[in-house]
Amino acid sequence: MPLSQRLSLPTLRATGADLVHNSAATTEAIRVELRSGLMATPAFTSPKYLYNALGSRLFEAICLVPEYYPTRTEAAIFDENLAQIAQAVGPGSTLIDLGAGNCAKAVRLFPALLPRQYVPIDISADFLAQALAPIRQCFPTVEMTGIGLDFSSSLDLPATVRHEKRVFFYPGSSIGNFVPAQAAAFLGRIRAACGADGALLIGVDLIKDHAILDAAYDDALGVTAAFNLNLLHHLNGLLETDFAVQDWLHRAFYNPQQSRVEMHLEARQALTVRWPGGQRRFAQGERIHTENSYKYTPQSFAALLGAAGFDAIQTWTDDCGWFAVMHARAA
Ligand code: AVI
Repeated sequence: MPLSQRLSLPTLRATGADLVHNSAATTEAIRVELRSGLMATPAFTSPKYLYNALGSRLFEAICLVPEYYPTRTEAAIFDENLAQIAQAVGPGSTLIDLGAGNCAKAVRLFPALLPRQYVPIDISADFLAQALAPIRQCFPTVEMTGIGLDFSSSLDLPATVRHEKRVFFYPGSSIGNFVPAQAAAFLGRIRAACGADGALLIGVDLIKDHAILDAAYDDALGVTAAFNLNLLHHLNGLLETDFAVQDWLHRAFYNPQQSRVEMHLEARQALTVRWPGGQRRFAQGERIHTENSYKYTPQSFAALLGAAGFDAIQTWTDDCGWFAVMHARAA
């Protein structure tokens, strides 16, 4: 297996779609970051490592399980308010899709939003390249530039991305995977990359009944458990660790003090994980914290947007008030 694939670094595929590689992290930097997280107490890993090729597929499957309401609720909000949302965005935008994955969420909005250029960005460049090729054929009049980039650390866009009317599209409440201080800084970077006539169209998951949140992140089919446990395969590839999936349990629950769902992997028994040059002992029940998913109120998120330099905030929610889609202009 090529090193670039093991590390989820971008590799070019001949897909016919214009794909730019812009990865900053080196192999060694990734290893240093991951090892220091594994040695910490409690141990932790960044949620971006959940998304190797299989992890991206498993996340697509999560979006289909009945308990995981965000994807279908957000889609319904877009369906029901499409004319108003399209009016807020306006035609001819440079639509920059952060964490595009299979690009499906943005592409279904093309007929209403009428973008001039589509710029999907994803850390998993191979996955993105495969997705973009057929989309380009379906929408030949929309310019397309795919970018393989870990946009959580850099929003440096190549010169091929138009400066006019940049609309950053960040659906799915992925903003919830940042701690609030990081979310504020990231929104500030988006604001800086927007330019004077830019805007942000974002999906935000809202605080709700805890049982609904618990079930959404611990579904009965075990798809989210597989997504979480697959991280161990990814770590074995990245770090040459000897994690055995069967030694670990998926744990996910809402933490009301922090307004976040936490995901962890918990050792079923005392064990030692080894890698070249190091090891870490885990007691029975000891956890690796693998993801946070923060939940907001429309007011608390609007305050975050305002502090980042956005205004003219418009909010659309579903009838239950479970999820919000927000449009905000560069102030
Ligand atoms: C991508 N992100 C918004 C998802 C979430 O809900 O936080 C990731 C996820 N983790 C477990 N299920 C879904």
